Amino acid sequence: MAITIWLTGLSGSGKSTLANALSERLKSRGVLCCVIDGDELRRGLCADLSYSREDRQEDIRRAANVSQLLNAAGVTVVAALISPYRDDCAMARAIIGSAAFFDVYLETSLQVCEQRNPKGLYRQARSGLIPKFTGISDHYEPPPHPYLQFDTHSRSVAECLTLMQDLLTQ
Ligand SMILES: Nc1ncnc2c1ncn2[C@@H]1O[C@H](COP(=O)(O)OP(=O)(O)OP(=O)(O)O)[C@@H](O)[C@H]1O
Ligand SMILES: [Mg+2]
Repeated sequence: MAITIWLTGLSGSGKSTLANALSERLKSRGVLCCVIDGDELRRGLCADLSYSREDRQEDIRRAANVSQLLNAAGVTVVAALISPYRDDCAMARAIIGSAAFFDVYLETSLQVCEQRNPKGLYRQARSGLIPKFTGISDHYEPPPHPYLQFDTHSRSVAECLTLMQDLLTQ
């Protein structure tokens, strides 16, 4: 059965990096796989949405429905979305179906994410240039019972993939 691996965590926690690494690993094993990345969605399918509470929900609703369609077609999905609100993650689980939904919480601290600052966004958020920035001016609700959770700080990408090994053999 094709599944959705749903990576959630703060900006800079490593979602895109690990999603791409996971996808490469799955493809090398002959698994049909698609990465659904929050940034890419915002450039296309969700380009009309803001970062308001309602629009973030709509963003997740669309991502979850695309994931469900892909899963139904036999494609494994690796989703890399901050998905900061519990209710929205619960909605994603309901749309995709609990049997196919595996949430992985990257519990990397705000301090580490801010130090990494891969896109330079934290500086802009701190100076008020980006309103409603998760972790700074908007909140992040950790998933209550994720399938897996770990900190990407002081861990290599390869070590993180090992932690997700179960998901590579579903
Ligand atoms: N073990 C690790 N896993 C993932 N990323 C890591 C790890 N160690 C260091 N990094 C670095 O942390 C940064 C994570 O950035 P990445 O773009 O993947 O975050 P993100 O969660 O997708 O952020 P955003 O929500 O802004 O898209 C990268 O620069 C990556 O090289
Ligand atoms: Mg990303």
